[in-house]
Amino acid sequence: MEHKIIIVGIGPGSVEYMIPAALKTIEEAKVLVGGSRAMEQYGKAKGQKQCVVRANMPAVMDFIRRELQTQDVVVMVSGDPGYYSMLEAVRRNFEDTPLKVIPGLSSIQVAFAKLGMPWQEAELLSMHGRSAPKEKMVYSPGKLLGFLTDKNNNSKTIPALLKKMGWPGGTMVAICNRLSYPDEKIIITTIGEAAKLETVYLNCVLVVKAK
Ligand SMILES: C[S@@+](CC[C@H](N)C(=O)[O-])C[C@H]1O[C@@H](n2cnc3c(N)ncnc32)[C@H](O)[C@@H]1O
Repeated sequence: MEHKIIIVGIGPGSVEYMIPAALKTIEEAKVLVGGSRAMEQYGKAKGQKQCVVRANMPAVMDFIRRELQTQDVVVMVSGDPGYYSMLEAVRRNFEDTPLKVIPGLSSIQVAFAKLGMPWQEAELLSMHGRSAPKEKMVYSPGKLLGFLTDKNNNSKTIPALLKKMGWPGGTMVAICNRLSYPDEKIIITTIGEAAKLETVYLNCVLVVKAK
């Protein structure tokens, strides 16, 4: 029998923001792959084989390949699998393996919801381990941007970059940190002020709205 890979979106973090089908799949998994944060939170099933994803992608792919010989493998990813996750690498490495994807709430989607803002007009950009195309960040009145961030492209550097590109200093930026967790923090400020904040947020969503 051919075994499959199930990629499960765990949402932004808190279990209340995970869909029931995702939780059920994780709880019933015999083999579970995921980041350390997800594994600590959800890797509780007895006798479950686990593989923690760090910067060890080739080893993770080898683990998945080995386990697929005898059983299904469940891979947890943050947010939604279709939006900047391991899904791409899994599709590349396992072209002929049956694949099932269980969606999750993307951190971007949760950020806009928390702000009570529609996002159908937003330009969604990732600066997590990459830079976003400059042409997508060009200022225009009313423009709406959403960013994934990382330690180098963060709540200080991205507003500074936009300012350098000619965005007015008074442009609103919402720094959405640890969404869905009890210590969630959303700071609404301007791109001019964001650089002066005492704390630099490295792992957050930024929503930027031009007047
Ligand atoms: C590798 S990307 C994964 C994106 C994910 N697939 C999604 O749909 O949200 C990781 C980035 O997502 C954002 N992120 C994930 N969880 C978050 C949370 N709970 N609060 C704020 N930002 C979060 C951060 O920008 C983080 O650097």
